[in-house]
Amino acid sequence: MITLGIETSCDDTSIAIFDDNKGMLYNKRHSQLELHNRYGGVFPELASRDHQVHLLPLFDDAMKQCFLKPHLIDVIAYTAGPGLVGSLFVGASFAHGLGLALSKPIVPVHHHLAHIEIARFQSPEISYPYLALLVSGGHTFLILVKSIHDCEIIGATVDDAVGEALDKSARIMSLPYPGGPEIESLAKTINETDLTLPRPMLKDPGLNMSFSGLKTAVINTFVKHLHTPAEISYALQKSIADVLVIKTRRALVSTGAKQLVFCGGVAANMYLGSTLRGMCEKKNVSCFIPEISYCTDNGAMVAFTGSELYRSGIFQKERFVEPGWSLNDL
Ligand code: KG4
Ligand code: ZN
Repeated sequence: MITLGIETSCDDTSIAIFDDNKGMLYNKRHSQLELHNRYGGVFPELASRDHQVHLLPLFDDAMKQCFLKPHLIDVIAYTAGPGLVGSLFVGASFAHGLGLALSKPIVPVHHHLAHIEIARFQSPEISYPYLALLVSGGHTFLILVKSIHDCEIIGATVDDAVGEALDKSARIMSLPYPGGPEIESLAKTINETDLTLPRPMLKDPGLNMSFSGLKTAVINTFVKHLHTPAEISYALQKSIADVLVIKTRRALVSTGAKQLVFCGGVAANMYLGSTLRGMCEKKNVSCFIPEISYCTDNGAMVAFTGSELYRSGIFQKERFVEPGWSLNDL
């Protein structure tokens, strides 16, 4: 079965072709980084216009590279939410138009479910229920994944997402967008610092987190000129790692889960990944982190998850776009 995956929820246009016999045949994306760089964040109207420009050429390239004709596609999967409404509409319209023209089934996919489930493509030994730590530019969630149709958010940030805190901190230090990779490279240039940034909400006994205070602490530190951006980046990464490790460990204990999936754009961060792996090893929990090209937004995660949903026979065919779609309402 050949599944086309379409991802346009934010600022990456991506197309993938997944063949459940041969594997992931194609997974390419067009990044809008340069377009949004000067705004220090994603400019929604420009994002949807740019998806319109690049989606069809990417699809044509996918057909050419995979020696496919559109009628050979069996299933069309696309990200229906959550995301920017204009951007989602571009992918949804393309998917539904193609599905109608070719008389093929269309599967609306939840963006976060796709971020999580792609881990099962690379590691089929992952079994339900498992714990997922999804950390991206817009969201920071601890999720108990009971099945592909049933997820429960058991912890979340009460304010900024980790990626947002990284992006905003980078902007304060005049680093380019997105800030996460910049902060990771700067942090790698030193081995220690006397600077300590706060670890918010650690005393709160629950699984919720908070990162906006950290961003304020970065502003206050930066304006004093007592520490370099490298030191601030190093301390910031350490604080985030401590909060994620402590809250995740608590979630593993309370759920009894024996497998952890760390995913989303921020899971591309090697320091955070190795710190979480270290904690899991001590607790005898298996830790899975998708490879970098599957961590940041990509069509492969949509194609794989769409294919699994289609095979399960349960998906809401009538859904078009849902910008505020919650993982609790799959
Ligand atoms: O999942 P994603 O590609 O898009 C969203 O759905 O948000 O995540 C983007 C986020 C950005 O905040 C970016 O700064 C962060 O992921 N990011 C990283 C790294 N690579 C991307 N954060 C820390 N370290 C990285 N290496
Ligand atoms: Zn994402």
